[in-house]
Amino acid sequence: MKKEHPIEDPHREYMEWAQTSGGQTAPPPSKPAPGPAAEFKRIGRYTPRLDGKKIVTGAAQYTHDLRFEDMLHGKILRCPHASADLAAIDISEASSYPGVKAVLKLKEGRVKWAGEQIAAVAAVDERRAEEALALIKVEYKVLPHVVEEGKAQEKDAPLVQDQGNVQKSSEYNRGDIEKGFKEADLVFEQTYKTSWEVHQPAETHGSIAQWDGDFLTVWDSTQGVHSVRDGLARALGIPAGRVRVIKHYMGGGFGSKLGVNDFTVVAARLARETGRPVKIILTRRENSYCVGYRPSAQMTIRAGVKKDGTLTALHFKSNNCGGIGRGDRCAEPATDLYKCPNVKVEEYSIFVNACGSRATRAPGHTQGTFGLEGFMEELAAKLGLDPLELRRRNYSGKEKGDTGNPYSTKGLELCYGLGAEKIGWSRRNKKPGAGGGKIKTGLGMAGQIWPGAGVPRTLADLKIYPDGSVEIECGTQDIGTGTRTHIALVAAETLGLEPEDIAVKIGDSDYPWAPNSGGSLTTPSVAPAVRDAALKAAEYLKGLAAKKLNAAPADIVLENRKLALKSDPAKAIEFKEIARGLPRPTPFHGERSGMTAGFAYQTFGAHFAEVEVDTETGKIKVKKVVAAHDIGRVINRQTAESQVIGGVTQGLSAALFEEKIMDPETGNMVNPNFHDYKIATALDIPEIVPLFADIVDDRLNNLGTKGLGEPPRIPSSAAIANAVYNAIGVHVREIPMTPARVLAALKRKEARP
Ligand code: MOS
Repeated sequence: MKKEHPIEDPHREYMEWAQTSGGQTAPPPSKPAPGPAAEFKRIGRYTPRLDGKKIVTGAAQYTHDLRFEDMLHGKILRCPHASADLAAIDISEASSYPGVKAVLKLKEGRVKWAGEQIAAVAAVDERRAEEALALIKVEYKVLPHVVEEGKAQEKDAPLVQDQGNVQKSSEYNRGDIEKGFKEADLVFEQTYKTSWEVHQPAETHGSIAQWDGDFLTVWDSTQGVHSVRDGLARALGIPAGRVRVIKHYMGGGFGSKLGVNDFTVVAARLARETGRPVKIILTRRENSYCVGYRPSAQMTIRAGVKKDGTLTALHFKSNNCGGIGRGDRCAEPATDLYKCPNVKVEEYSIFVNACGSRATRAPGHTQGTFGLEGFMEELAAKLGLDPLELRRRNYSGKEKGDTGNPYSTKGLELCYGLGAEKIGWSRRNKKPGAGGGKIKTGLGMAGQIWPGAGVPRTLADLKIYPDGSVEIECGTQDIGTGTRTHIALVAAETLGLEPEDIAVKIGDSDYPWAPNSGGSLTTPSVAPAVRDAALKAAEYLKGLAAKKLNAAPADIVLENRKLALKSDPAKAIEFKEIARGLPRPTPFHGERSGMTAGFAYQTFGAHFAEVEVDTETGKIKVKKVVAAHDIGRVINRQTAESQVIGGVTQGLSAALFEEKIMDPETGNMVNPNFHDYKIATALDIPEIVPLFADIVDDRLNNLGTKGLGEPPRIPSSAAIANAVYNAIGVHVREIPMTPARVLAALKRKEARP
């Protein structure tokens, strides 16, 4: 079936291919990515990480690895009660304990979750700091607590927030929802749940603080050196210009390391008091229960559809629980991903006595996609439609479900086609659960939408030295994704050099401003700023070379470490030779510009999963995942593929294993370690095939590139859940899909008439 997709797209031929082929064929593989800069030599191809060897050999220095002369170790005493009034803290014995250099009281009044900071110790080593913590005497008046979402909503539940344990957090309306339901041939409703998922970066949180007079330097495992600097300045009441935050290497953050941490402020205070550097590294246990997690969501979706699958109404209601903090807003996939004129959203935050949640890789969208895409899967079965076809029939060319601005580019149809072809979509069970035997197999898919447009005004400085060396300074950071390499790649491409010719300096708040590495912001913010600086440098160098070669600057190209005439490539000067003429190290300032107004900028993607379900044990084995994404131009295909593999893995882990579990009695987390908090291991990871739409978004930035940090996490759990449905014919509507939940779902199926 050929349909009209009212889309403004500069890459029409790709869209047309996708539509006419019905997603059953792939585009010719030799076809280059469209766009004006398709002549790139390195950008878009595979470049190994420049610092890969350093990382895998252990030479890279992480915050945990750093040690300074006279350095003290800080430890935090945390409240064991989920709700209490703090009556008194006695630090006298701890203060006089041998090796202890400072003790701080950190809390007074009401404590609202088990794990809140009460006091801190700085001592000459970790053991003595731990021992001193045990000597701090705290008197608590223990109060009733609630850690269960259901209980928190009961009338006589202990009040977690003064305004109530249930608060409306968002509302959205378009069209007329009642009219939409009246127009429907079928109305369907279902509820989906996601659990608390802890970020669990390989490297736990940690900071080292050191004062030099009234200047503070902090080495921090962080996703944002600038935001930590600003947060520290505010918390300590000192000027931002006197704070410097450094992070060279880190082992992941996933949203839990976006701003300044309370313990980092403590490290700075202990360092000020003792006049010595103070290091605080959180244990895995602290990392599990003190620094956030993904809020849970309980989403009830009700939709009206025509017989042909056209959505007429969509009602999305969600209860989102993030401890003492607000839950995520999960409705955006439901309001945006499909064309639907009548939409209503109501979201509520449920408050309980647990640590506040934190942004977790695609906050809200990940939960919302699990709900929406599971719902679409079940809806397709009700209608007797192929689930991919149902999605195609509701394809939207504009934001807000076809009611807002046109998308600058949208390669979702292409992702559908690429993914379906690669997984062999025609192999799926036409009827969910159709296959026989004890081990059942199935195929499922899910789509994703996420902003990932990047931040205008991001800065990068490029400097050329008279010895011909090139340096980039940018206050971004590599959270493990390969930022140094893509910066070098863009500069090298633009200047006709090799990536290893570029000295990339990042991870320092003294460098030019760049945003947090979160929200899929880094590449689409930083790469265009680097490109801008390098283009300015190239223009300048072309002018110098033009004089020497007696040619027009426009006739000069930079390649192979030379500046050569386009019209006569034999006439060329070494890059180094031109640089030698510079009077001094010469800087070029790059800035990420704004985007063309009047368009909506989003990333899109679709995952296709193949699973096996053992119907006797309830165990799920993921056999293969194909992940197709439209993220504009790919900068470094190697690290982009790694990012997709990581996102699929994390989503698989959440789909099958991960859940932060609270003890209702004590109000404490019962699984704050890697033994009891299950994470996918290498044995659980299937073949993962990353694919890219390679549609260059020229309206977005000078490289046409979007972000990829979050997109591959978003549909990952949903695609697996949908494949399980296709295998066993009953939907497991709650993640993690533990064997117990799978078996319970199978029972539900048997109980059906
Ligand atoms: Mo974010 S939740 O740091 O990508």
